[in-house]
Parts: sequence; C-alpha cells; structure tokens
Amino acid sequence: MTTLSGRFEILKESGSYRNGRFLGERHSFLTPVFMPVGTRGSVRLFPHDLLDQIGFEVVLANTYHMMLRPGADVVAKLGGLHRFSGWPNAILTDSGGFQVMSLDANFDLDGVSFRSVYDGAKAYLTPENAVRMQELLGSDIAMVLDVCTMLPASTDQLKEALYLTISWAKRSKAAHNRSDQSLFGIVQGGTDATLRKISIEATCEIGFDGYAIGGLAVGEERSLTLETVQLCCDSLPQDAPRYLMGVGDPYSIVHAVELGVDMFDCVAPSRVARHGVGWTSNGKVSVKQARYVASEEPLDPNCECDTCVRYPMALLNHLFKVDPVTLGVLLTRHNLTFMKTLISWCRKAVEEGNFNDPKRFVETYYS
Ligand code: GUN
Ligand code: ZN
Repeated sequence: MTTLSGRFEILKESGSYRNGRFLGERHSFLTPVFMPVGTRGSVRLFPHDLLDQIGFEVVLANTYHMMLRPGADVVAKLGGLHRFSGWPNAILTDSGGFQVMSLDANFDLDGVSFRSVYDGAKAYLTPENAVRMQELLGSDIAMVLDVCTMLPASTDQLKEALYLTISWAKRSKAAHNRSDQSLFGIVQGGTDATLRKISIEATCEIGFDGYAIGGLAVGEERSLTLETVQLCCDSLPQDAPRYLMGVGDPYSIVHAVELGVDMFDCVAPSRVARHGVGWTSNGKVSVKQARYVASEEPLDPNCECDTCVRYPMALLNHLFKVDPVTLGVLLTRHNLTFMKTLISWCRKAVEEGNFNDPKRFVETYYS
C-alpha cells in the first residue's frame, strides 16, 4: 500500500498499528522511527557520525534556528543541510511555528513575527517563506507552518489557532515546489475531539505526503495525550505516515505505536543525559546517586552500547562530579541507543501482533 505520492509503503499491518517504509526521492527510512533532534544542525554533545553508528536513519532540524544562524541561504550555498551538517541520511525540518511559541511571538493572518533569540533582531515567518527556507535547506521532509496552542486553552483560542493553521496549510502547499522534498500537514485542535476531527478533515482535503499530530505534550494531562492520539489515528488516512510531534518518552512511544503512529521526535533523551540521567530497560537511572560511587555494574545490563559495555557506574558517577560534559556524551549515546532499541521492540511487537512485552518494559516511565 502506498500514498498518492508513492512515498509510504506498509510492510506489516495488524489492527491499528503497522511497520512501514518511507521512500523519499533521496533517502528512505523504516517506520516506526525515532528522530533525534539536532535543532541547529547537530544534536547537542553528539556529532552526526555517532548517530550514524547507532543506526539512525533520519534526524530533525529546525527551520527557525537555521534561518537565523547561519541562514538558509548560507546552507543552500554550501549544498544544503545534508552537506552542511555532515548527515548522509534523511532530514526532517520543523517549520518554526512551535519554536516561536516560546518566544514573545505575534501571530496575524499573514504570519508570525518574533525576535531572534540570538541578537533580538526582528524576524518574520509566513507559510510561504517557511516553505521557501525549507526548500533552501533541502530537507527530505518539510513541515507546514502551524499555530500550536499551549494547554489549557479555551475553545475559542483553539479554534482560532486551528483555522489559521488550515489556511496556512493551503498556502504552504501552494508555495511548495521542490519535487524531491515531501511536505507534511499538521493537525491541531488541542484535546478537543470535535476540533481535531475538523482539523483532520480539512488537512486531508488539502492533501499532504504525511500528517503530523501537533499541539500535544504542551500542558495537558498524560492520559489525554494518548486519548487524542487515538482519536487522530482513527481518522487519519491509513496509507500516509503519521508523525506525533515532540512526544518521545518511552511510555508514549510504545503506546502510540500501538495506536498507529509511525514517526516520533523528542529532545528528552539528549536533554536528560545532560542532567546525568540514563533511560534504561530497568527505568530511569540518575548516575549521581551515592550508591553508584563504587559500583562495577553497567548502566543498563541489557544494552550493548559502548557506554554500557566499557564503563562501570562508578566512572559515570565520578564524571558527574568532575567532567559533566564527557558524561553528557556518554549518556546521550546510551539514551539514543535505548530509543533505537525501544523502536526495534515496537517493530517486533507489530510483527508478532502483541505489545505486552514492550508495554511492560515502559511501565516505569509513566510519570
Ligand atoms: N513540535 C512539537 N509540537 C509541535 C507542533 O504542534 N507544531 C510544530 N510545528 N512542531 C511541534
Ligand atoms: Zn547503553
């Protein structure tokens, strides 16, 4: 089964969930997939060649950051984001709508104005120039510019963001003309079932190569996140990839794959690593705890990454005090390897038609 553009193939399907393959013009990847976040063209503390070694097939970069520094035109002159960032595999660029939300941004019908995080200079994003920037960056998958609402929000606020997102999605599609790049639409509507359905219908009517579920993990209760994911998966087209934006904790990943989600991104695995936390098959581990001072045990006995194979917990505990940067590198490697392993478990669960094992594994991550 393939999408209209022929870019998504379902390899194995059972009930709501599936294993698939995204076939870009330049790069392909298997789904479900976890995309490490390299906001500025690189994952913090973790060069792209190390991601390659773990076996990642796709990374995320942010249009918002790349357009401010070094500038999309600079990246284009250097041959695009793949050459610029030394990444030979697929790249998805987020449009910037979500990143500006945390700033003092002003939305109007035409676009969103904000000030650069770097020097305070005025900047402006419209659906058209967000597409243009992503075409210059040359990512494999571009995202439409959307309006994401922090929760809780009133129905009126959600509606306003939703209709703006729909009109921007139309303009984004009209502006997009790079044939070797896919364009994904984004569904909004908070946790309101009626609004989500309106959003899905309108976004699918416009027609995209894939559909993202945006506006989640932005303040709502955990149970509502997955409830909303379920509602979206029930209504989104079966034959196009589904991408749950910014939600990538182990618990949500396993449950969302079971509901039919194909793609994930999340900064958490690398962010918690920089705070001395490892995500393991036995739950979260904070390496600074006194009980690890002389521990010979590995961080995760079920992991084959070099951090777990080479170093005892005693060393990680020691680095927390004397060299947190090196510790951050070691824990990022482990946490990203863990995410890759988690996705493999999910793929196996799809093959076997049974999610009990991975669900049991991530029980401790429900918090
Ligand atoms: N990343 C996490 N959530 C969102 C969202 O709602 N929109 C966009 N563009 N990016 C996101
Ligand atoms: Zn490991």
